[in-house]
Amino acid sequence: MDFFATAAKGTEPALRDELREIGVRGVRADRGGVHFGGALDLGARVCLESRIAVRVLAELGRFDAGSVDALYAGVREIDWAGLIGPRHTLAVRASVRDGALTHSGYVALKTKDAIVDVLRDKRGWRPSVDTEDPDVLLFVHVAKDSATVYLDIGGGSLHQRGWRARSAEAPMKETLAAAILRLAGWDRRSPLRDPMCGSGTLAIEAALWARGVAPGLSRPRLGVERAAWLDDSLARRLAELRSSLRERARTSKAAPDVAGSDLDPTAVAIARANAAAAGVGVDFEVAPVSALRPTSPPGWVVTNPPYGERLATDGTLYREMAKTFSQLAGHHVTVLAGSMAILRAFPSPPDRSLLVLNGPIECRLLSWEIGSRAGARTSRSSPSASRQSGGARRARAR
Ligand SMILES: C[S@@+](CC[C@H](N)C(=O)[O-])C[C@H]1O[C@@H](n2cnc3c(N)ncnc32)[C@H](O)[C@@H]1O
Repeated sequence: MDFFATAAKGTEPALRDELREIGVRGVRADRGGVHFGGALDLGARVCLESRIAVRVLAELGRFDAGSVDALYAGVREIDWAGLIGPRHTLAVRASVRDGALTHSGYVALKTKDAIVDVLRDKRGWRPSVDTEDPDVLLFVHVAKDSATVYLDIGGGSLHQRGWRARSAEAPMKETLAAAILRLAGWDRRSPLRDPMCGSGTLAIEAALWARGVAPGLSRPRLGVERAAWLDDSLARRLAELRSSLRERARTSKAAPDVAGSDLDPTAVAIARANAAAAGVGVDFEVAPVSALRPTSPPGWVVTNPPYGERLATDGTLYREMAKTFSQLAGHHVTVLAGSMAILRAFPSPPDRSLLVLNGPIECRLLSWEIGSRAGARTSRSSPSASRQSGGARRARAR
């Protein structure tokens, strides 16, 4: 089968690398996600193991859709009876780009009509629509008059891991946090700090990643397990896969030094509750970003400061961040920033800057390798950063 795993814009290379590490071959990063091919089991495994994929879509058909009639006819050609049984519910979502069909809602409606009509004509029954919690969730993507119809084999957005008991203000999606940790280059062994942790997403995802806990294990059933494709053999193979993934997490010895802090006591309480629900030992403390101290050995600081016009124009927080981070000799600092005003506060330009979408917000993922002297910049290849790092104070973020 051909699959397309979707990811937040800008994080596609991180998903590609993650899928390669999971053992998926022939992956190809594209706009908004990664293509790969293989058996249905492989797609299901990606749903269970990928931290970065938002959805895993299996291609059901591809055809010309320069008109509504062509779309309707193309959808009818797909083998729906093999996928949807009499008791299954379905929902269709659509997107359109650069073609004759310009209304996504209408494309979704006509696709649903074609499926219902062909099943009624050939089988004598009609599936019901459930837009909230369908058994079969379908996506239609029409670009340049070509339609592709997909089944969402995860059955929903994979950012829902089951550990988020409560949300603080502006929480980051778990899938985006996982992508940022990979893009930041964290090695899963060195200490990691998030000094503006909010609900704790980055730190919790880091701890789960280091321990190899498969994020999809909290999902009782994948989308593919709710469709007519599920037979005894696939059910058995997925049960075996889940049990081997559980065993891997159970026997993991990794206990990375990951911690978070935030000025807001409510956010810290939420982060602690979330970490407890996730079953990870992450320390969260109430503290301003200025209280952040170097770790020993020097590690990573990955954080996501608040967005907002006031912050951008005032600049106080950015100056506080710049001053604090410039004292972390030998550390890697990565900031997901909603405003470029942050750059004015830092003494040196970032070593890397990537465009990343956080929901609808266009952000920059900025990374600095902090040099050996406070406030100075040392190139990534300089050995002095690691030499000097031994003197880092043995204090954790409070
Ligand atoms: C965009 S939110 C972070 C969201 C977080 N990534 C999550 O997933 O929940 C920014 C956080 O920065 C915190 N904050 C703002 N100013 C701070 C400061 N000076 N020191 C520490 N934390 C601060 C806020 O309380 C807020 O929780």
